[in-house]
Amino acid sequence: MRPIVALLVMLFSLSARTQIPTSTPDIDARVEVLLKKMTLDEKIGQMNQVTGDISTGTNVAQSDMMSQIRSGHVGSVLSHTNFDNKIKMQEEAVKKSRLGIPIIFGFDVIHGYKTIFPIPLAQAASWDLASIEALERIAATEASSDGQNWTFSPMVDLSREPRWGRVMEGAGEDPYLGARIAEARVKGFQGTDLAQPNTIATCAKHFAGYGFSEGGRDYNTVDMSEQRLREFVMPPFKAAADAGSATFMNAFNTLNGTPCTMNKHIQEDMLRGEWKWNGMMVSDWNSVGETMVHGSASDVVDASAKCLIAGCDMDMAGGTYMLGMKKALEEGRVTQDQIDEAVRRVLRLKFQLGLFDNPFLYLNAKTREQNLEKPEYRDLARSVAAESMVLLKNDGGVLPITPSSPFKKIALIGPYADSRGNKDYMSFWTLGLGMREYDSTKVVTPAMALKPALEAMGFEVTVTQICMDAACTEVDYSAALKAARDADLVICLLGERGLDCGESRCVSSLELPRGQETIARMVSRGNKPVVTVLFNSRPLVFPWITENVPAILLAWQPGFEAGNALVDVLTGKVNPSGKLPITFPRNLGQVPIYYNHLNTGRPQETMGTMWTSGYLDSSVQPAWPFGFGLSYTQFRYFDIQLSKSAISMDETLEVSINVTNTGSVAGTEVVQCYIHDLSADIARPVKELKGFERIKLNPGETRKVVFKLSKDDLRYWNQDIQFKADPGKFKVFVGGNSQDVKEVEFTLR
Ligand code: GLC
Repeated sequence: MRPIVALLVMLFSLSARTQIPTSTPDIDARVEVLLKKMTLDEKIGQMNQVTGDISTGTNVAQSDMMSQIRSGHVGSVLSHTNFDNKIKMQEEAVKKSRLGIPIIFGFDVIHGYKTIFPIPLAQAASWDLASIEALERIAATEASSDGQNWTFSPMVDLSREPRWGRVMEGAGEDPYLGARIAEARVKGFQGTDLAQPNTIATCAKHFAGYGFSEGGRDYNTVDMSEQRLREFVMPPFKAAADAGSATFMNAFNTLNGTPCTMNKHIQEDMLRGEWKWNGMMVSDWNSVGETMVHGSASDVVDASAKCLIAGCDMDMAGGTYMLGMKKALEEGRVTQDQIDEAVRRVLRLKFQLGLFDNPFLYLNAKTREQNLEKPEYRDLARSVAAESMVLLKNDGGVLPITPSSPFKKIALIGPYADSRGNKDYMSFWTLGLGMREYDSTKVVTPAMALKPALEAMGFEVTVTQICMDAACTEVDYSAALKAARDADLVICLLGERGLDCGESRCVSSLELPRGQETIARMVSRGNKPVVTVLFNSRPLVFPWITENVPAILLAWQPGFEAGNALVDVLTGKVNPSGKLPITFPRNLGQVPIYYNHLNTGRPQETMGTMWTSGYLDSSVQPAWPFGFGLSYTQFRYFDIQLSKSAISMDETLEVSINVTNTGSVAGTEVVQCYIHDLSADIARPVKELKGFERIKLNPGETRKVVFKLSKDDLRYWNQDIQFKADPGKFKVFVGGNSQDVKEVEFTLR
């Protein structure tokens, strides 16, 4: 990691590990004083969030914003980009409404705000928690300088569904990794004091289970056991709540038949009851109103009552609370106390943010410009983009490209060699740049960086950008064929359009879009070395490339510094250390496929074995497993040891292993520790991640890595929905991915 970046990471992640107080006596007292002055109309107004100059969902009724604000009917505005308008809205609220209650501005700050970082799934592939926290610190600094007080992130939905467009927004399939990243993101955004002008409130979303929707389709049905919900959905949400996330957002989907927005079990019983979380819950876009479309509410009064009683404090964008809440009170469907408690949470958040003390704290035109798009932000963006890239194949050591590499002419070929549109190398969730129009010159494309860098190393470089956008009906491959024929090495740059990544961008096929594998086959004629670089937002399947191309690098959607990060990795300036946070299937038919699966009563070891759990036409093994990623060096794991062969419930076990860099270049390895509970009351996953450590080793260097396991690491949700550890045998596995591991057994007494 470059020194400047290391300094940034240290500075930004120095935030004390204290949880944000959900309230203080002073704030509570001030809330009560204000609440007593408010009319019912004004109270319901605080529960109403209206959309700004960007719409991120279905069409909803829009009315005159300023008159709504003057009447005290707007508690919050979301997705508003125009800074001056935000000042005007705040002035209208503070100076023209009866009680002068300030507005809170919410925004989707998903992977950067004005400086765009790698997508969250890519960041997860870095396993670099300090850098992830530091990136969110930067995002909070930019967003708060631009008048945003509240981000609708972190998105902490775990998922095993590559078809789902939003898998890019999360941290993959694992509860432990997802929980650690959720914590890092909350701390990065919120810092230690929400009243500081450069910290913003977070919103853990989408509560809950959205990533398990049937068919991998947005908004679709989710149905699972309570045991699976608590084991495979809730840990990152619990981590976000424990880290002090000021708000949560409920999900569009039904969970076991009840829409999350009116799901009392998860919002009241679990989140507020069991977890003692007392922040503010916002709906998703019109998800209050959509309870009527689900068919679980008969009208706006019914929808308002059921969602409020279930714990939804604020209605995003749909205006249903404004239409039905008053009548719900008059008909006795809700109580005044229930309304007051929701309004308290909204007001408390505004007090915590310092908005009552200074409603323009985040609307300071003087400091705005100086905090946006600082060069050092790009340094960290570049460093994390490089750290997130996953080397899947490197047969024959084609990579890295160095001056001594045995080729002279390098051809960059593909639709993502030098793309300037469609938010390529990014995603739909870069709203800080605007909806579709943005300054694409801010993105460093592969060609912009690779051509000069490789030429400076003495190579001849050609660039053949293949237009495959819908606008290019006739794709001309002739130039690509010629460029490949004339070159000694081809770098084939394929993947997904940035605008095809995110919400409402689900796919029914995991193949590379628009038949791009054809390009790889084409340029591979004449058996010269080919490197495939994939700009992907989800696990994809590319069977021909997997089998035939010697080098494959997953670049994900790397953000503004795409090209520079690619130069760093392809030339070996950065030795790739990324590890998959989500399983890559061989084919869509295997989905859902994930590493922490149950053994079944008939596990299949070899494809085709009768009477075992497998397929006639496919292996059950993934293309690449969770935690996988190669390096330009090699690491040897040996001498796994336990501090004890058995521990009691109140003891801690130490698992140690030696790791040696047996190669010729320094490298970073993510050492992973898994367990398998062999004697629980129910079937347990064949592996569960319980710890990881990123270590940097010079050639020949050996490091002893130690993991500590206690009863809390061995607990699970049993059929009686108790979270407990059973005495009995466990296996511990340590390795550089979830399959190639050393193992040892111990007993919990
Ligand atoms: C969208 C998304 C949610 C986002 C919200 C505001 O529909 O589901 O994640 O924060 O609306 O844009």
